[in-house]
Amino acid sequence: MSGLPARRAALQALRAVDEDAAWSTTAVAAAVSSLTDARDRAFAAHLAYETLRWEGPIDAALASVLTRDLDDVEPALRRVLRLGAVQLLVSQTPDRAAVSTSVTLAGEQVPAGRAKGAAGFVNGVLRGLARRGPPPPPPLGDDPVAHLAHLTAHPPWVVADLLTRFDVARTRSLLEADNRSPGVTLRAVADRGEVLEALAADGVSAVPGELAEAVRAPGLDPSRSRVVADGLAVVQDEASMHVVEATGVRAGDRVLDLCAGPGGKTTHLASRVGPDGAVVAVELHPHRARMVAEAARRVGVGVDVRVGDAADPPLAPDERFDVVLLDAPCTGLGTGRRRPEVRWRRTPADVASLAALQRRLVVPALGRVDDGGVLTYAVCTWTRDETDAIADVVDAGPDRQAVSALGRRLFTPDVDGTDGMFVATWRRTAGVGGGG
Ligand SMILES: C[S@@+](CC[C@H](N)C(=O)[O-])C[C@H]1O[C@@H](n2cnc3c(N)ncnc32)[C@H](O)[C@@H]1O
Repeated sequence: MSGLPARRAALQALRAVDEDAAWSTTAVAAAVSSLTDARDRAFAAHLAYETLRWEGPIDAALASVLTRDLDDVEPALRRVLRLGAVQLLVSQTPDRAAVSTSVTLAGEQVPAGRAKGAAGFVNGVLRGLARRGPPPPPPLGDDPVAHLAHLTAHPPWVVADLLTRFDVARTRSLLEADNRSPGVTLRAVADRGEVLEALAADGVSAVPGELAEAVRAPGLDPSRSRVVADGLAVVQDEASMHVVEATGVRAGDRVLDLCAGPGGKTTHLASRVGPDGAVVAVELHPHRARMVAEAARRVGVGVDVRVGDAADPPLAPDERFDVVLLDAPCTGLGTGRRRPEVRWRRTPADVASLAALQRRLVVPALGRVDDGGVLTYAVCTWTRDETDAIADVVDAGPDRQAVSALGRRLFTPDVDGTDGMFVATWRRTAGVGGGG
């Protein structure tokens, strides 16, 4: 049946995200790799990402036609229903194709003896949904949070948090941009001109990005790119490059990267400091510390990787640095263009616990900055509690007399064309008592 292999691959990716807690970036790449036709690969990826993106509104629509709770439907069939529903309600797939392929897939998901029942169940639910059509959005005037949550497929708590920062129109534009797949951006490790030439020779159209190392290659498939395989460039979002730019790091600097894994910013810092500088990279989890060491090896830079807790890093008590980067663990909502499931996986409780961790890390990080040196705090999210509230801890903290704020910036996908990223930087102007 036409389109079945692509839908089967999409379902395989959804299973990996659901059951193995894989990120969609990895799960989709693995699931589509067995498809030989590039159009099938693109269609499978499109369906998987749309299903993950629209999970909330799709579940609400399914609930309106189901006679039992969606949570009570066995997971494999729930995924088939979601994949079918996204085709009916979001992807404009003809109803017949969406329903008949879903019925076939349902039969494949259960033991042979139950195949007929599963197929009949999915057939009934999806036909009901096709008849009913997409539910209308709640009116804006009554409830802006519910309205935007429905229109942009984000949880109400995420919308409500953004509405404390932006008006309705800006919040909508940001969340809509969060629903568009980003093009690939690269950070040139070799000379950027050389990277652009190598891409052109491979028939890939690419242009320079905003920062000196940035290259925009929207149509590039990194898994099949010689430039990436040969280590001439690494895949990295421009917002991440802006974090390193914000540190003002220069050749010869001594740098401390406190939450380093998997090492994208570490190797960027190491390239900037050059052979006369040094980068110490601290990472809590040994397997992620190994990723940092491997990234440094691939890029060909020297990094001193240490396993340890950024709150009490494995350093001599009086060791201080010209640049300290705290790229802290966070809810990661700003990466939603690549990993749309992140919005449904995170909860307000995660915000609270991660903000508590960030507060615990930021003060000792400042204590490791030398006089005249710089602290940069970054998170790839936009919740208030993980961004400005943490920067306020430094601005109002016990060492406030000893630091001067150099600036705060929130990068967003609608205005900057990047992932969401908050970056705040301070210069230490005098000796600091706290932490260290
Ligand atoms: C946002 S990621 C850092 C991304 C990294 N800077 C890059 O550019 O590739 C946060 C990292 O901090 C690590 N981490 C979490 N808690 C930590 C702690 N207490 N001390 C050090 N590292 C920690 C996580 O394992 C994760 O690898």
